[in-house]
Amino acid sequence: MVYAFPPGFQWGVATSSYQIEGAADGRGPSVWDVFSQTPGRVLNGDTGAVACDHVHRYRDDIALMAELGVRHYRFSISWPRILPEGRGAVNQAGLAFYSELVDTLLEFGITPHATLFHWDSPQALETKYGSWRNRQMAQDFADYAAVVVKRLGDRITHWMTLNEIFCFTHIGYGVGHVPEMAPGTVVKTAKAVWQTSHHALLAHGLGCQAIRAASPQPCQVSLVDNYLATVPLSDTPGDIAAAQAAFPLTGTNGGILYPALTGHYSPQLLEELGENAPDIQPGDLEVIYQPIDSLGFNVYTGVYVRAADNERGFEMLPFPQGYPRLHMPWLHILPDSLYWGVRHISDTLQRPELRVFISENGCAAQDELTPTGEVLDLDRIQYLQQYLRSAHRAVQEGYPLMGYFLWSFLDNFEWAYGRDRRFGITYVDFATQQRIPKASYHWYAHCVQENRVV
Ligand code: FCB
Repeated sequence: MVYAFPPGFQWGVATSSYQIEGAADGRGPSVWDVFSQTPGRVLNGDTGAVACDHVHRYRDDIALMAELGVRHYRFSISWPRILPEGRGAVNQAGLAFYSELVDTLLEFGITPHATLFHWDSPQALETKYGSWRNRQMAQDFADYAAVVVKRLGDRITHWMTLNEIFCFTHIGYGVGHVPEMAPGTVVKTAKAVWQTSHHALLAHGLGCQAIRAASPQPCQVSLVDNYLATVPLSDTPGDIAAAQAAFPLTGTNGGILYPALTGHYSPQLLEELGENAPDIQPGDLEVIYQPIDSLGFNVYTGVYVRAADNERGFEMLPFPQGYPRLHMPWLHILPDSLYWGVRHISDTLQRPELRVFISENGCAAQDELTPTGEVLDLDRIQYLQQYLRSAHRAVQEGYPLMGYFLWSFLDNFEWAYGRDRRFGITYVDFATQQRIPKASYHWYAHCVQENRVV
């Protein structure tokens, strides 16, 4: 089988600001600076103060990206690098950095795709009013978005509002206990957690409006979400129906993806949440349900579902001990999750016209340098190959999947796991900041060049 993609399929790589930039002195502190400086929070005490030192090495990094052959790059903009206090005074040097970054990308023939928020929110707003616990955060995000788009919108036409609402709200805010994996606060109820994601949805909606109003030219606006794809255990009609029925009730799908793409929370989810459902003010759902040009799907794993003789008609299956996974506790290998995630948007959410792109896919592996200085990440190649075949299946069957951004271009600061977990196709020697393309880099270059899974 030749896994060829249609002409125009967009091949790219992805990163995020806090994970690669460094140059912490050039920005206001973000919640991730404070979190990572708190002893015991990040593995080995790593922080993003230097990360991949990308702020000083971006030109070489972009040259290496061009050598890879990709024409698309998804990166994120650091809110506190633009607005050190979260609102008000603009740091012109911060804007100038991104302006040069974008010029360099264009010079190398790479289209910039910018995410406006990839978790590194200004600590000043946490201190002032509790960040996502407060509705004000949504308006402050939209105002920040307008500042960025006014300055860079002459050269950037692909915008993403927020990355993975679930992670910076539901993982960041702990009910009755301090959140261990992400910055946030202890809140009293699950309702309070749902309120934070509701505020983030409002930020997405107001952000879409602000981007379109500020852009000097027509542009594309997307949401990036890591909704959980339900994968039928078999391709029988019964299991497929079960996977569809489970989709709104899996993870936080019904309360994040559903409002953004259908204009309402899933009724079944609201029923299950009962008094833990967030407060929704009149007009909120209209703000949240903005037209978007495409959806970014971050996919690493999924959940198996089968038909069951119970009230719901389905059951979600836990992964057994020993199920194959890569170098993260949650990284169970489930290539079909990519195909089903795309298909659910068309068939289950009934949005067949909405274009989807894979905004992140990749894996952490226990990479080592061989004596000859190579990194033979065969496990990563195997993983990527399977997921890309799944992408091919979606395209082949006519689902509107337009592109693929591999996570990640570089090994980087992997949040609570620090530098310990390497997701890059380029190895970074953090002692010297040397970049060494791994075997997967060369393999991916081949895919890009031939527009197929090699
Ligand atoms: C995603 C994040 C990204 C990276 C990968 C491994 O959840 O968006 O920043 O950490 O996981």
